[in-house]
Amino acid sequence: MAPHSAFDRAGVQSDRIADLFWTYFDISALVFVLVLGALVVAVFRRTRPDAPERSVPSVEAERPKRRAVGIATAFTVVTLIAMLFLSVKTSRALASLGTKDAISVSVVGHKWWWEFQYPASVAGLHFTTAYEMHIPVGRPVEVKLESHDVIHSFWVPSLHGKRDAIPGKKGSLVLQADRPGRYEGQCAEFCGLQHANMRFVVVAESDEDFKKWLAHSLTPAVTPDDPVKLQGQEVFMKSRCSVCHAISGTDAFATVGPNLTHLASRRELAMGTLPNTPGHLAGWIVDPQSTKPGVPMPGTPLPPEELNALLTYLRSLE
Ligand code: CUA
Repeated sequence: MAPHSAFDRAGVQSDRIADLFWTYFDISALVFVLVLGALVVAVFRRTRPDAPERSVPSVEAERPKRRAVGIATAFTVVTLIAMLFLSVKTSRALASLGTKDAISVSVVGHKWWWEFQYPASVAGLHFTTAYEMHIPVGRPVEVKLESHDVIHSFWVPSLHGKRDAIPGKKGSLVLQADRPGRYEGQCAEFCGLQHANMRFVVVAESDEDFKKWLAHSLTPAVTPDDPVKLQGQEVFMKSRCSVCHAISGTDAFATVGPNLTHLASRRELAMGTLPNTPGHLAGWIVDPQSTKPGVPMPGTPLPPEELNALLTYLRSLE
């Protein structure tokens, strides 16, 4: 996956933020050049061989200098006020993307993963998923933020600025993707050992693909159709897995960890730290601590046959 970048703008909100950034950059560059230019002129005049000897300055001689300082001060004040005005204007514009025709998604930050809840108003029935947040292109999405434990910060640089997810407090932002793509997101508030790996992906797709994804997400997990998968499901239910994870359509309904109903359809595991392959999945189940020290998920050593069956079952959860 391409690394996320606020310069890779993909929506109206990120456009506004990037425009403000470049305006600030231009102004700052101009000020930098002017200040350095003034410095060079001053040094040059000081070191000229024919520079006048320093003497007690007269009021007359001081006048042009005072005028220069006055003009520079006025210029600074005007520049700062203009920048403040631009900043406020951008903030207002960011808040102006209304929720008319918007879909709404609840986002819950956990140590160290992101949960996405799609309400019945969007999907027909409520469902929960993790890591991959799908949205339709060209439509505002109201992200309702909360946190399960500590302060996290929801940030998809290509789509919007940062917004904190604070325990006990509801926050929100409205974003919109104007072109399809997979946009990487990142927790942007230090929240513990695995903060840097608290990633997620926003998948922006056409309305049609989004509806397909919603419909697919609502389907319960496939029922195992062969003895190995069936054994895998049994292992899942009897081992620690079902204590924390849910798979809809089965007796596993815990909400401590990410919902695994469609685990195999995600491209990455462990919040984007591992590619979703059988080998990485096996390593993750057996020893998650070596990949992500500190994660609440304990290692689950299993006899090879059971591990193989569990993998076969989990890999079938598309
Ligand atoms: Cu969650 Cu940093």
